[in-house]
Amino acid sequence: MSLSPIIELQSVSKSFGATSAIENLVLSIEAGAFCVLVGPSGCGKSTVLRMINAMIAPDLGVVRVRGQNISELDPIELRRSIGYVIQSVGLFPHWTVAANIATVPRLMGWDKVKIAERVEHIAAALQIDPALLPRYPRQLSGGQQQRVGVARALAADPDILLMDEPFAALDPVSRAALQGELRRLHKESGKTIVFVTHDMNEALRLATHIIVMDKGRVIQAGAPADILLRPRDAFVEGFLGREDLPLRLLDLATVGERTRPATTAAGSADEPIAIRDTASLRQALTLMLERHRDRLAVENERGELMGEIAVADVLGAGDAG
Ligand SMILES: Nc1ncnc2c1ncn2[C@@H]1O[C@H](COP(=O)(O)OP(=O)(O)O)[C@@H](O)[C@H]1O
Ligand SMILES: [Mg+2]
Repeated sequence: MSLSPIIELQSVSKSFGATSAIENLVLSIEAGAFCVLVGPSGCGKSTVLRMINAMIAPDLGVVRVRGQNISELDPIELRRSIGYVIQSVGLFPHWTVAANIATVPRLMGWDKVKIAERVEHIAAALQIDPALLPRYPRQLSGGQQQRVGVARALAADPDILLMDEPFAALDPVSRAALQGELRRLHKESGKTIVFVTHDMNEALRLATHIIVMDKGRVIQAGAPADILLRPRDAFVEGFLGREDLPLRLLDLATVGERTRPATTAAGSADEPIAIRDTASLRQALTLMLERHRDRLAVENERGELMGEIAVADVLGAGDAG
């Protein structure tokens, strides 16, 4: 399964004065992965991201991006080729939303028409109301500002997106909405995302690949279901919390992944109840229990029938991984 990784850290160490932030870290991220670095505050997550875009140079070891040792590249060009989103957004307060989104394309010297088209396109993709484009950041809610931050990072269509606790300051509703957008965007674009969080539930919801860190080291790396089912040690176990394990596993897979062709429900006179393909298995199970059904119709975003999912398909999720 191992194609050539798009990002690699080879035995990287980094200290700040007497503080060792990263110790002999080995990391390999495949192109197209949604990789989440998760660990407690101070474990070195931000330092890893900042080494990937050459904002911090390692003391020892090599960082490779797209196969190239980045110490041999122009750091400014490298940074322009990688989207970067941080928690406090860092929008330019005296620039309009449109100008903020256009930052990198303008630096890259795109012509005005192309920039305007791109801003419009990326705003639509992130469901930013066009009426917000001429406004200033302070006139936006926190959730809207964070959407603009993501749009700005994606404006020049980078193949790699680094995100450092981007949703940590948002209310739960905006946060869940942005997580959903990001998952969809990842799926549709095939971009490589490296996302940092201290919240294991956020990691489980988003990642294709999770890297658990502590004290500047990788403790465990694997698919979300691997980490949930087989935590390597007491640290990972403690960090996960073991409550509701079966339900959390059902959160990891979508209805679409378990959908099969619809049978003509023999003997069922009931009107079918539909669920979206993007819903989680947990949502499907909840709907089945609430409505006393053992199967649901599955539909896509256009409301077209894709097939069906039965309660046995949902409960089969326990052997994931
Ligand atoms: N510029 C810096 N100067 C001094 N110490 C730093 C600096 N950046 C990070 N550190 C230290 O390195 C360690 C890792 O920090 P960081 O990567 O920011 O952790 P995380 O993002 O996981 O919270 C911490 O002990 C932090 O205090
Ligand atoms: Mg950090």
